Amino acid sequence: MPAKLLKGADVAKEIRAELKTEVENLQAQHGVVPGLVTILVGENPASQSYVRGKQKTAHELGFYSIQDNQPADLSEEKLLQLVDQYNKDPKIHGILVQLPLPKHINENRVLLAIDPSKDVDAFHPVNVGKLLIGEPDYLPCTPAGIQELLIRSGTEISGAEVVVVGRSNIVGKPIAAMLMQKAKSANATVTVCHTRTKDVKFHTTRADILIVAAGVKEYVTGDMIKPGAVVIDVGVNDVGVTADGKRILKGDVAFEAAAEIASAITPVPGGVGPMTITMLMKNTVRACKVHNNIKD
Ligand code: GUN
Repeated sequence: MPAKLLKGADVAKEIRAELKTEVENLQAQHGVVPGLVTILVGENPASQSYVRGKQKTAHELGFYSIQDNQPADLSEEKLLQLVDQYNKDPKIHGILVQLPLPKHINENRVLLAIDPSKDVDAFHPVNVGKLLIGEPDYLPCTPAGIQELLIRSGTEISGAEVVVVGRSNIVGKPIAAMLMQKAKSANATVTVCHTRTKDVKFHTTRADILIVAAGVKEYVTGDMIKPGAVVIDVGVNDVGVTADGKRILKGDVAFEAAAEIASAITPVPGGVGPMTITMLMKNTVRACKVHNNIKD
């Protein structure tokens, strides 16, 4: 396997150590503790697992954290009231509503109800707009994690041909917007492929940096990768469970074949996932500072 492994889990550990020190200083010098609430509606096993990971990390960093589990039949009205309650709670600086929500709830209406200054996912239209014009308060977590991984691995982003596979609001659109900005650690030429792209392979084989968030197990095969490319696999596809109940995961990239061709690649699990959680913690620390008028 000639490709270097981009171990997000290791980078995330480094950043979390930095954050832990920052949290200790915030408490010692200002008497404040970052507060995060994660709201989960229903019992989607993947969502339960993600929320558990976020809460565990929040606890490890010394946050004040609440996991608010609600039944699948919670009304939209009730959820909006709950969001409003946390908007007004001075101990809470970050509000995360785990997606997807049950079908009877309008996701956009709920995201719009979150106070943008507590929107640590950066999904509120105000934060999406600020990102697009290059003046973000918060960066969306998965794209921020990808950019940080690229930076810390020494990958040249400026001038690179970046191809993103997938156009979701959570990953594809924001990572494209971030890497095309006229800004440090950006300035890439970005192409976005999606389900109606005529010849995906034509684009992916031109990519110096290939970011795959297609939501399809092993969608990108070895022949779709340019030799020496840096490959970021955002996919998390369940393929089964181990005897002791752990999820068995595969990415959106056929890992073994890709690792023979790429110069660097993220593993699944242990690549992008831990970075996403860590960026959520970073945003929550930032939100805590914003709400307490503490300068960086
Ligand atoms: N569902 C999948 N990814 C995410 C995420 O980053 N944030 C939230 N709130 N829900 C998600």
